[in-house]
Amino acid sequence: MKAAYFEQHGGPEVIRCGDLPDPLAGPGEIVVDVHAASVNGADCKVLSGRYSRITDFPYVLGRDFSGVVASLGDGVNECAPGAPVFGVCEVGQEGTYAEKIAIKAALVAPKPDSLSHVDAAALALVGLTAVISIEDTLALQPGERILIQGGAGGVAGFGIQLAKHIGAHVIATCSARNIDYVQGLGADEVIDYNARDFAEAVSDCDAMFETVGGDVAERSFAVLKPGGRAAFIASGPTAPQPARGDVTALRPRVGRDRTHLLRILELVEIGAVGVPEIRTFPLADAASALATSAARHLRGKLVLKTR
Ligand SMILES: NC(=O)c1ccc[n+]([C@@H]2O[C@H](COP(=O)([O-])OP(=O)(O)OC[C@H]3O[C@@H](n4cnc5c(N)ncnc54)[C@H](OP(=O)(O)O)[C@@H]3O)[C@@H](O)[C@H]2O)c1
Repeated sequence: MKAAYFEQHGGPEVIRCGDLPDPLAGPGEIVVDVHAASVNGADCKVLSGRYSRITDFPYVLGRDFSGVVASLGDGVNECAPGAPVFGVCEVGQEGTYAEKIAIKAALVAPKPDSLSHVDAAALALVGLTAVISIEDTLALQPGERILIQGGAGGVAGFGIQLAKHIGAHVIATCSARNIDYVQGLGADEVIDYNARDFAEAVSDCDAMFETVGGDVAERSFAVLKPGGRAAFIASGPTAPQPARGDVTALRPRVGRDRTHLLRILELVEIGAVGVPEIRTFPLADAASALATSAARHLRGKLVLKTR
């Protein structure tokens, strides 16, 4: 199979595209012919070695995908060859920047005809992360006020729509060129973070969803009212500790399962969440997609067309 892989840590320039052995389905697994794989914020961190040092090369990036079931391992009877599916690799597994992947059958969901493979791949990990963060972790309620940091990005873009669907008042941050896009996602208020300090412009929030990291994360506690909750996904494995004692800092545990994939589909089906703006790249140009992601000013999603 063709795959985009790397053999040493570095920047997008170390990515190669070439032939690797086809994967085989182990017990409980299926092999999927991947049609589309999304590029996530984490991919450049894995590539650079910032997450952990990889020793088993060649290494194929990619956490989510959409494709067609090619073959079944022992004990799989929940899907059939030819079925369109989408999903997210289990924590610790990657490899969707490829024409094929072997994955646990329990981690995929049927892809509806109403979504293209590109659309489904674009929704998978960001949808899972937003649902787990906003519904399961923050338990956002109707009428609550939430600040979503990084509103034009993949996870936050899904999150804005979900928070509006729940009935919250949504404030989002982004740069000037993305204001129209973020308003189009449904944000009630949009803060251009270069023009105004969000920590002064926003206050009295019940909840905050932080997808940017660094200094933005540390300063975000200021927008919460006493008793407020904050969820952080871009600050490493633990949430930053607040300097104040009257708010809660949470680190969502983004596991993988079919239930949450079905929740994504339900939200799309009822019109609560739409497909983000998507820019596609051929698999052979994965390095360009990663360079775009690494710049950290993406609007919507990047998706690799793998065949
Ligand atoms: N399982 C997990 O825990 C999990 C899952 C998914 C993602 N993540 C992490 O979550 C983060 C976001 O991922 P993603 O894929 O959604 O990112 P992304 O699509 O690459 O989006 C990054 C966004 O951040 C915005 N941004 C940059 N600087 C900003 C600032 N100072 N204030 C406000 N917005 C700013 C950019 O918009 P502008 O151009 O408008 O600045 C861009 O839209 C990444 O760090 C990723 O690793 C964690």
